[in-house]
Amino acid sequence: MQTILVTGACGNIGQNVLSALANKDCKIKVLDLGNPVNKKVAESYPDIEFCWGDITDAAAVQMALQGVNTVLHLIGIIPPMSESHPELARKVNVQGMNVLIDAMQKSDTAKRIVFTSTFAVLGIGDGTNKIHTADMPYKVSDVYSETKVDCEKALMASNLDWTILRLSAIPNVDPSAHNLKDMALSMRIGPKDFIEFCHARDVALALVSAGTLPFEKVKHQIFMIGGGDSCRFNGHEFSTKLFSAAGVGQIPAKYYSHKPKFYAGWVDSETSNEILDYQRTSLDDFCQEFHQLLGKPKYIAAKIFSPLILLALVLMTRKMVNEE
Ligand SMILES: NC(=O)c1ccc[n+]([C@@H]2O[C@H](COP(=O)([O-])OP(=O)(O)OC[C@H]3O[C@@H](n4cnc5c(N)ncnc54)[C@H](O)[C@@H]3O)[C@@H](O)[C@H]2O)c1
Repeated sequence: MQTILVTGACGNIGQNVLSALANKDCKIKVLDLGNPVNKKVAESYPDIEFCWGDITDAAAVQMALQGVNTVLHLIGIIPPMSESHPELARKVNVQGMNVLIDAMQKSDTAKRIVFTSTFAVLGIGDGTNKIHTADMPYKVSDVYSETKVDCEKALMASNLDWTILRLSAIPNVDPSAHNLKDMALSMRIGPKDFIEFCHARDVALALVSAGTLPFEKVKHQIFMIGGGDSCRFNGHEFSTKLFSAAGVGQIPAKYYSHKPKFYAGWVDSETSNEILDYQRTSLDDFCQEFHQLLGKPKYIAAKIFSPLILLALVLMTRKMVNEE
């Protein structure tokens, strides 16, 4: 039986990975920070071994790798935190990746790794609906994409058995994980830019496939991960669906950022789905699930206060644009 280490398993995508791995015949280990929030998450998985430690701590990583064959590496500092805390993002994303690669190269067992990169390495939206493919050149646009490019390059230069998954937009379905700041972030996608959503549950299936299929099928490949046809929209349609599910309603396109500064574009998810077989959920399914988790009282409250929420979102978007 193989042992799989999931790093960053207490996060949004990571928890879905733990659920997806539950059906597999393997032993699961986790490496994540031992803070109270993550320790609470761990209580839901009594059969999984949690190793608490920092990805930049070589000793902690070495301990977590004991007996491990495959690593699904999810730890990462993501936007907006990567931009407000660039040094932390570089430390956790890049230095963390290098510590992990070094420890795996020294390990006798842990040779296979699947890394969660991002379609952001191909740049911000340019208003065209060209499909982003894995062979397009890098276009660094911010700290986050810079760190992920560095990670990809380090991995490709290693002697490990690597597979890279470049994820598109993966919002959390749990309403309590959202705030005005990340809602405003979605208004940074140009209203006419294209965006492909994917449910974190489907991303988890893709990660598990990439880590458990015979290695020859995924060997040294970069896969673009998105939800496919039922998940492809323009920026305005995308946020309108999400905001409507939350009770906030529609924001006229004129209030969106007209200097788009956020990653956008549909991705070549057909190729990845053919091999990894993960696309199950549409954006409408996601919105329905989000709406149910939110519950009626909060939905009604958001509807009542929607003029104020909309105003706050418009002002936050303007402030972000002006600060550039
Ligand atoms: N969510 C998206 O839209 C998206 C899109 C593209 C790529 N990705 C990538 O997928 C991965 C997972 O994303 P997510 O949305 O689940 O993120 P998340 O923020 O929900 O989870 C990140 C996890 O990393 C852990 N972590 C952070 N710093 C750490 C450190 N120093 N040492 C150990 N653990 C640490 C956190 O505790 C958390 O459990 C990331 O690498 C991210 O870059 C996410």
